[in-house]
Amino acid sequence: MTSILVLNGPNLNLLGTRQPEVYGRTTLKDVEDMCVARGKDMGLDVVCLQSNHEGVMIDAIHAAKGTHGGIVLNAGAYTHTSVALRDAIASVELPVVEVHLSNIHAREPFRHHSHIAPVALGQIAGFGAQGYDLALQVLAEHLGTPS
Ligand code: DQA
Repeated sequence: MTSILVLNGPNLNLLGTRQPEVYGRTTLKDVEDMCVARGKDMGLDVVCLQSNHEGVMIDAIHAAKGTHGGIVLNAGAYTHTSVALRDAIASVELPVVEVHLSNIHAREPFRHHSHIAPVALGQIAGFGAQGYDLALQVLAEHLGTPS
């Protein structure tokens, strides 16, 4: 079965209680459980990781090469700041789908720019937890995994 890494970045461990008016009441565990279950439906073996540390995320992206077929990435605030994460993605040449729960383009101007977008297959933003499901569908199709 094709393996997919679902990688969540800083502060996403607080989902459910963090600014619920922006990010909803769904917890990270809910999101991860949904990803594993939906992945199974699509023939994907989903492995989830969350870190508040940029270096840990970079190590996880490096380790994904040869282990996972693709990555669903919500880099949180590092989306807008991290050239290092962008370089890591470009280095491993794995398909990455960028996900944001909120519509970053409808929020503060500093959230409009993504360092990830130019090296991602595409970006899904504004659909809450459903965005992860959509990202898995994109990767399943991209990798030719029968669903
Ligand atoms: C986020 C959007 C980012 O701007 C923010 O820093 C986050 C979460 C989202 O999922 O909507 O931490 O990536």
